[in-house]
Amino acid sequence: MQAPHTTPSPASSPPSPRRWHVDEIDYAGIDLARIQDQEDLFYLVASASFIETGSDMYTRNLVRHYADYPEVAHWLQQHWEPEELQHGLALRRYVEAVWPEFPWQEAFDAFFAEYGALCTDEELERDRTLELVARCVVETGTTTYYHTMRDLAAEPVLADLANRIRGDEVQHYKYFLQYFRKLQASQPAGPSRLHIARVLYQRLREIKDSDSDVALRHVWQHRPERFRQASFAQISQRSYRLVSSNLPITQVIRMLLKPVDLPRSLEKLLEPALQRLARRVLSA
Ligand SMILES: [Fe+2]
Ligand SMILES: [Fe+2]
Repeated sequence: MQAPHTTPSPASSPPSPRRWHVDEIDYAGIDLARIQDQEDLFYLVASASFIETGSDMYTRNLVRHYADYPEVAHWLQQHWEPEELQHGLALRRYVEAVWPEFPWQEAFDAFFAEYGALCTDEELERDRTLELVARCVVETGTTTYYHTMRDLAAEPVLADLANRIRGDEVQHYKYFLQYFRKLQASQPAGPSRLHIARVLYQRLREIKDSDSDVALRHVWQHRPERFRQASFAQISQRSYRLVSSNLPITQVIRMLLKPVDLPRSLEKLLEPALQRLARRVLSA
């Protein structure tokens, strides 16, 4: 197990100021009666806290991948990683405030032992420009996940937290898109639209497996007594349906299509078919 996940990684220059700080979250003001028995939200919040807390493993691989692009590597270390880790810490605090009987650290350690082995360099696109497209898909996925969490949360502190995290994920998406465009402009023989579309499609299909499934399974294995009824298959299916049926699909398609840079008229023409395709892929 590595260094505490609650502290941003050490770096040569001080971390950048964040848009918000975990200490601003009103944990003491949580309306427990409105959240404690919400089984679906327990799974959504706890599994997100695991993935976010494990993001330093991912950052390490990405920083190595972009060693020849110091601007990207610097942003990953100084902006992206501290923000993702703060998401993990803020969600963890929420879980511990609402469901103190859930053994967060023990469950996280079990998750991380398995997850760490999955985070390899082979997971990344060899082409650095295309990996930025893959990052855009991941950040589109996290944006929509927190959008859904915010909309489902009847408890105001959770709605506020999900909204803050969603805002960060949108910014991450924008940075990755901006770097992607910069790299693409610097290489006239860069990846074609077809290559970009292939990465988009593959990553869209992957959104629902591996990471989130591993996290969900470890949360389920350590679930509190009050949520003992449902099987893992039921929980997995329910969580997935919940997120995919609440997707802001128009926004998802717009975010996904940006790296392809289609003329607006063509994008408009393709939008209904792409919405159907995205729904099919995500609900398969
Ligand atoms: Fe995040
Ligand atoms: Fe993010």
